[in-house]
Amino acid sequence: MASILGFGGYVPSRVMTNDDWAELIDTSDEWITTRTGIKRRHFAADDEATVDLAAKAAEVAMRDAGITAADIDEIIVATDTPEAYTPDTASFLQHRLGCREVPAYDLGGSGCAGFVQALDVARARMVLEPKRVLLVGVELISRLMSWEDRSFCVLFGDAAGAVVLGPEGGRAELLHVVAGTDGSKTDILTLKTGGTRHPFNADSLASGAYHHLDMDGRRVFREAVHRMSAAVEDVLGHVGKKVEDADLVIPHQANKRIIDAVQQKLGASDDGVYVNVHNYGNTGSATVPFALWEALETGRINEGDLVALTAFGAGFHWAAAALQF
Ligand code: ACO
Repeated sequence: MASILGFGGYVPSRVMTNDDWAELIDTSDEWITTRTGIKRRHFAADDEATVDLAAKAAEVAMRDAGITAADIDEIIVATDTPEAYTPDTASFLQHRLGCREVPAYDLGGSGCAGFVQALDVARARMVLEPKRVLLVGVELISRLMSWEDRSFCVLFGDAAGAVVLGPEGGRAELLHVVAGTDGSKTDILTLKTGGTRHPFNADSLASGAYHHLDMDGRRVFREAVHRMSAAVEDVLGHVGKKVEDADLVIPHQANKRIIDAVQQKLGASDDGVYVNVHNYGNTGSATVPFALWEALETGRINEGDLVALTAFGAGFHWAAAALQF
């Protein structure tokens, strides 16, 4: 069995409130708050890129685990906003942290489900030999999104979260992970331009298509609620538990209305579901590891707690994990 040895998180210092957005585009604090619950988000500084955020969260997680970069045996980075098109952010991170020449790779394109999916990959990689795996969920969405498209730009923020996994005996046992994909729904959330079907070219540059996310908001909403709540029940069922046994559910923080609907579907109490979307917005694959770290830092998770993580993302992917502290 795998366990989590250390947790980390990082948000850049620059804060952008809803009122700040209202000075730039035709929107209002009232619209954003009512539709999403988001009040503010953090954006990276001009000289920060994905690996800077990832390294900061990773350093916190390694310190928490009581290890150094030399002790890491494998690196996985979950991100849809990588340092470069190629190579992957994990390669940059390996060098930045000063790790040995260990395997390092990204899990990209899974949208906001990436980190929880990667937990499944990490624990599978630990079956044959015990190793310490550094897993980072990081997103620098502000750099790649359109700052003029009010339907999207107000939803997102930049952040990173990290864990170090190792053999049994860490701060939390990773009891089980479930994951699934419905590839018939690639159309409900997609950034088409930049791939081989719709290459990046002068036309996509002129039209702005290269940073236009196609999203059927209502279908995404419905799928997110259904898949995240079913995945929590599924993963807890695998370890012989029910939702009422869980001390805390940490869902992907896309918007407050989705989180409320998941809570209602699960029959969980207000105290039983972690919410921080008002402070950070949707930080993609970073929301779950960052919230996990913040929940520990603020005493929302204590020794003995059973915690369920759940996320959804473009694909359409979903995943959930059960952790015993
Ligand atoms: N400020 C003011 N008005 C806006 C803004 C804005 N920022 N954005 C859109 N509007 C307007 C639209 O133009 C539209 O105006 P119209 O009626 O005159 O045409 C009106 O508000 C309603 O727009 P809708 O898109 O229909 O708004 P909706 O109520 O569906 O809310 C939202 C949009 C919040 C995205 C909703 O669909 C939702 O919660 N979807 C769930 C999916 C989600 O959160 N996706 C984001 C991340 S995906 C992920 O995390 C994997």
